[in-house]
Amino acid sequence: MSVDDEDSSLIDFYPYRARFKTYERLEPEGRDHQNILDELGTMAHEEDRIAGLGRVSGSIYHGGHDHYAFLTEAFRLFAHSNVLQRDMYPSATKLEAEIVAMTAAMLHGGPEVCGVVTFGGTESLINPMLVYRDRGRAEKGITEPEVIIPVTAHVALEKAGHLLGIKILKAPLTGEWVADVDWMRAHVTRNTVALVGSAANYAHGLIDPIEELAAIALEHDLGLHVDGCLGGFILPWGERLGYEIPRFDFRVPGVTSISADTHKYGYALKGTSVLLYRDSGLRKYQYFNFTDWPGGIYFSPGLSGSRSGGIVAATWAAMVSLGERGYLEVAKGIFETAATIRHGIDAIPELEVIGQPTFLVAFRSPDLNIYHVNDHLIAKGWRLNALQLPAALHFCVTRPNTAPGVPDAFLADLRDAVDYAKHPARAEPKSGALYGLGGTPEGNEILNTLFTAALDAMYEVAPTEARA
Ligand SMILES: Cc1ncc(COP(=O)(O)O)c(C=O)c1O
Repeated sequence: MSVDDEDSSLIDFYPYRARFKTYERLEPEGRDHQNILDELGTMAHEEDRIAGLGRVSGSIYHGGHDHYAFLTEAFRLFAHSNVLQRDMYPSATKLEAEIVAMTAAMLHGGPEVCGVVTFGGTESLINPMLVYRDRGRAEKGITEPEVIIPVTAHVALEKAGHLLGIKILKAPLTGEWVADVDWMRAHVTRNTVALVGSAANYAHGLIDPIEELAAIALEHDLGLHVDGCLGGFILPWGERLGYEIPRFDFRVPGVTSISADTHKYGYALKGTSVLLYRDSGLRKYQYFNFTDWPGGIYFSPGLSGSRSGGIVAATWAAMVSLGERGYLEVAKGIFETAATIRHGIDAIPELEVIGQPTFLVAFRSPDLNIYHVNDHLIAKGWRLNALQLPAALHFCVTRPNTAPGVPDAFLADLRDAVDYAKHPARAEPKSGALYGLGGTPEGNEILNTLFTAALDAMYEVAPTEARA
């Protein structure tokens, strides 16, 4: 496929509308099980083909179908159970407590470290912001809370600020592309309740100077949340394998909470993450109890209410089945593949690797339009992540990318992509179209309108024009 083939980068939200029946209301009669499973199977297999090629950055962290079949079996046993109902399902207490304990031990937490299982990285970032806001109010009388994050910290923290009424201050990066600690120190005020650093951040896969941030947190009695959603389950194994990984976990005094996603490099199914606190004095601010409700006395640990025990069982099963040896083996392939890719990019004069990567390699081009490079890669079946501010791409290496031949094939296509970008077939790259719009009030307005329409479209059973 070439860059100019029309569908090489457009998203079709409704590829099935001509092939399968569209349900706009419940049918009077139910449908045969096998028939339903056949239809779902067709969609699943076609969609899995893309992931199976090993050409996708991030997203599919394990990729082993035996592994997923095993997790699904564990899920099946508890799919219908509700982890809120501990009287009926005491297994949830065993499984969740052990997921938290295993994660805490991996991140060098002592016996006082505690935590919760959440529905994903986003909840693992919103909950600690709630904790630091409410701790600031209860213990220091802070009514206009502020949190300082690096500009590369995950956007879910902006969502947390938006939902919780916290002012988010964004620190620039240093020449090494990590959080500017001096800027963060200079912006601590009486209203600051917490700092955030990433290990590693989504955009560039880099680890902020957590030890330096921790020193500021200790000096001012602030929370320091380390966002290890992406790196929490891979960096510890990189360190064990001898890679240079700066300390970011509970060995650093001053780190008060860490998020680590089991549904990324923990190799569980989508829908779980672990959030750890230095001690239960912090975690208590996350709990929600309500005693005067006609429905009964209610208490819950975090944002979610009822959750399926299946997802908890599958997460526990993933961790216990892999064990340290399993995580180390997968990590070895990932770090080696990332190093091959990094060195290959280093050897391409038109490209520049961002910072000192470990498992995720971000790169840009001082001279070429990197989105033209991406157009060619997309046409060759690669799915990298496009970044902005500055324009760049990243390859977040996962287990499917460690298959023999994948890194070499990628580097060969990347070299061709750089040649293509020198003489692109079209002036405006297809994959960068939206990025060019941001940055001005008018452009941002257009983008917001487009995104609202796109989100609306995701909840349409069929495109509006087809229904009219
Ligand atoms: C560093 C980091 N933090 C948080 C998140 C949010 O995780 P989720 O998509 O599971 O909510 C991500 C997702 O990629 C991430 O990379």
